[in-house]
Amino acid sequence: MKKITSVLLAGALLGTVMAGCSSGEKTAEGGKSESGGKEPSIGVAIYKFDDTFMTGVRNAIKSNAEGKAKVDIVDSQNSQPTQNDKVDLFISKKTDALVINPVDRTAAGVIIDKAKAANTPVVFLNREPLPEDMKKWDKVYYVGAKAEESGTMSGELIADYWKAHPEADKNKDGVLQYVMLKGEPGHQDAELRTKYSIEAIEKAGIKVQKVEEDTAMWDRVKGQEKMAAFLGAHGDGIEAVLANNDDMALGAIEALKAAGYFKDGKTMPVVGVDATAPALQALEEGTLLGTVLNDANNQGKAAVALATVLAKGETPSKDNIGFDITDNQYVWIPYKKITKDNINDAK
Ligand code: GAL
Ligand code: CA
Repeated sequence: MKKITSVLLAGALLGTVMAGCSSGEKTAEGGKSESGGKEPSIGVAIYKFDDTFMTGVRNAIKSNAEGKAKVDIVDSQNSQPTQNDKVDLFISKKTDALVINPVDRTAAGVIIDKAKAANTPVVFLNREPLPEDMKKWDKVYYVGAKAEESGTMSGELIADYWKAHPEADKNKDGVLQYVMLKGEPGHQDAELRTKYSIEAIEKAGIKVQKVEEDTAMWDRVKGQEKMAAFLGAHGDGIEAVLANNDDMALGAIEALKAAGYFKDGKTMPVVGVDATAPALQALEEGTLLGTVLNDANNQGKAAVALATVLAKGETPSKDNIGFDITDNQYVWIPYKKITKDNINDAK
């Protein structure tokens, strides 16, 4: 018994010494990887845990890291100062790489400065740092999706519906009266989805009139409240609802249901973005017209792959991360239009 213990202990010590050599000065505790070597440590800070889509990304990070890296995922609670403290802590623990979903994307520059000083590579996620910040260091990457693409796709969903359903023009004026539920102002996904969705409708040759536009901060309850207010003010004067994400679209659907929609032939085209599980259910029920798949699984997978390679001191490439890298620093995950017809592509 004693002998076995000491052999194990010697083995463990040897492992520690060897791992210490291979990872240079870094000493953060890692687990054992598939190959038997020491797993690199990755510190992950999410802008807030209470966000449906980012919860999907978080789960994807966890599952994709299994056997490859030791991830420590923390909640920044929608506060940039809190996130900065978490980043400091990761750096002081000599974490091998960081994955950061910024609270405020303009705060990325400060995080990059700190990470660079400690030689800790950073992968940003979901909230795109400004280009001038990305240029500060070559060990900084961004994993995300092209916001304008999702905007265009959600606009096309509405345009297709409008063309197939002449009765959707309730006041018969040849103009589509719409309301827009916007995500967090300043977020690239909120600004660009708003802009490009309407541009796509206009490009399809449809005249539009904005009845209302307001932020519901990606939030379902706020989406419901705003939509209830829009309906109170305009009622049948609204002919379509565009939401920058599914949670707000689902909130709007609740308000529409309360106002008598989705029964007795009374309907409303509502589109969102993300293709979350509850949104797919609404598609099946016929309340949500369409959504756009924001691929949480591949975003999490790419972030883990990049951070793992960087943590080992290697240079990321398509060969070692499995995703194309654009402009040396960006991994773009494509969006996909989802309706009832191709719902399985999102499941
Ligand atoms: C967007 C997503 C939203 C929200 C936001 C958080 O990409 O569509 O639902 O999660 O990111 O930054
Ligand atoms: Ca009209």
